[in-house]
Amino acid sequence: MKTHLILVTLCFFSVVHVQGVDPKCSSQDQDSNLQVFHVFSPCSPFRPSKPLSWDESVLQMQAKDQARLQFLSSLVARKSVVPIASGRQIIQSPTYIVRAKIGTPPQTMLMAMDTSNDAAWIPCTGCVGCSSSVFAPVKSTTFKTLGCQAAQCKQVPNPTCGDGACAFNLTYGGSSIAANLSQDAVTLATDVVPAYTFGCIKAATGSSLPPQGLLGLGRGPLSLLAQTQNLYSSTFSYCLPSFKSLNFSGSLRLGPVGQPKRIKYTPLLKNPRRSSLYYVNLFAIRVGRKVVDIPSTALAFNPTTGAGTIFDSGTVFTRLVTPAYTAVRDEFRRRVGRNLTVTSLGGFDTCYTVPIVSPTITFMFSGMNVTLPQDNLLIHSTSGSTTCLAMAAAPDNVNSVLNVIANMQQQNHRLLYDVPNSRLGVARELCT
Ligand SMILES: *[C@@H]1O[C@H](CO)[C@@H](O)[C@H](O)[C@H]1NC(C)=O
Ligand SMILES: *[C@@H]1O[C@H](CO)[C@@H](O)[C@H](O)[C@H]1NC(C)=O
Ligand SMILES: *[C@@H]1O[C@H](CO)[C@@H](O)[C@H](O)[C@H]1NC(C)=O
Ligand SMILES: *[C@@H]1O[C@H](CO)[C@@H](O)[C@H](O)[C@H]1NC(C)=O
Ligand SMILES: *[C@@H]1O[C@H](CO)[C@@H](O)[C@H](O)[C@H]1NC(C)=O
Repeated sequence: MKTHLILVTLCFFSVVHVQGVDPKCSSQDQDSNLQVFHVFSPCSPFRPSKPLSWDESVLQMQAKDQARLQFLSSLVARKSVVPIASGRQIIQSPTYIVRAKIGTPPQTMLMAMDTSNDAAWIPCTGCVGCSSSVFAPVKSTTFKTLGCQAAQCKQVPNPTCGDGACAFNLTYGGSSIAANLSQDAVTLATDVVPAYTFGCIKAATGSSLPPQGLLGLGRGPLSLLAQTQNLYSSTFSYCLPSFKSLNFSGSLRLGPVGQPKRIKYTPLLKNPRRSSLYYVNLFAIRVGRKVVDIPSTALAFNPTTGAGTIFDSGTVFTRLVTPAYTAVRDEFRRRVGRNLTVTSLGGFDTCYTVPIVSPTITFMFSGMNVTLPQDNLLIHSTSGSTTCLAMAAAPDNVNSVLNVIANMQQQNHRLLYDVPNSRLGVARELCT
């Protein structure tokens, strides 16, 4: 079996105006290496048209997180809550995008990676409400639309039969899509998945959709894992580079070969109500050396209510349910120094305008302690004048029961999703 090493290169150079100007942005994927971009990176066509200030980008990421948390909570509660954007437009696309090639000959699409979703979907020619870059099925000799009788049609929620095609509608954050269930070859680096099943989007509303589609890395039916069982055995790992790193490269490695041997594991938990999410048992949190006092119900896994803790690649800042967050924050503030003035920035309530020394925070999972250093805990303004604890309480306008370990807290760690052995591994790895 091959080693499926996909290089994540998030170019973060300041003056690249056209995608492909920097060689890092346009270098061809070779062997099993594939580039991945941060959605705000200069290599990303989806970056803001004018550079955001630090405050603006933090607030924007928080706003997206808010919408994502509402989305994840609605998944857990099996309610179709459409998040209400507070006045301005929120693009709720996950933070990391990968280059996938669809069809024969291949058409390149920059798809968002999302560990909390199963399905893949791509905007197709003729789509009403999609952005300009779409996949053209007519130009692919291997494309086909699946019929209502196809076995895969039974795995789609509420399929309908339109002119013989298996069609479905779904909501994603504040958006909804209408798609035909379709199949085509998908090439990831040099690995070809011959008949990959995905949604070919024909209509979209709202502003939450990743512009060139979504690649779900969840573990439910129709996911990449389910469809590449022979190739990748439901195993992958990634190292997300810090988004402040200039070189911004890391890796996504698909398949069991070449995965780290020295890594700590915690069991993955299954929630039948939400089979795609990667739940784990977080049972305590330490700030410095002190295990803080959190009511056990705030952390307990409960498949019925959806309560518990998940790892998610698409949320930026870790969210804890209020009693857990408050306990962590209070001890954090105590360690930093009682006498320092605490300010707030958007959803962050623990910010300082003088340099601070942060205590470590340790998430205590079954069988695995993960101790986060300062870099995973603090966000600094460019001028260095403001430093915030980069975590928050779950949004209070949804009845959230979910703790989410988000991508800022995962950066510079290798996260190994070993689904066959039902475990998730975490090890420090510098991939800046
Ligand atoms: C699906 O969405 C399309 C386009 O928005 C709409 O015309 C259609 O009625 C929807 N179908 C169902 C079953 O909701
Ligand atoms: C969806 O399927 C219908 C029926 O086959 C077809 O008319 C339509 O063009 C398809 N749309 C897309 C975007 O594939
Ligand atoms: C960026 O990468 C280049 C080589 O690709 C290396 O020489 C340089 O030290 C790196 N810079 C940082 C800040 O890591
Ligand atoms: C806090 O300030 C008080 C009075 O200004 C001082 O006596 C005390 O030592 C300070 N405590 C810390 C931990 O710096
Ligand atoms: C986690 O840390 C605690 C100390 O706070 C220790 O007692 C426990 O054995 C550690 N767990 C593992 C799995 O290393």
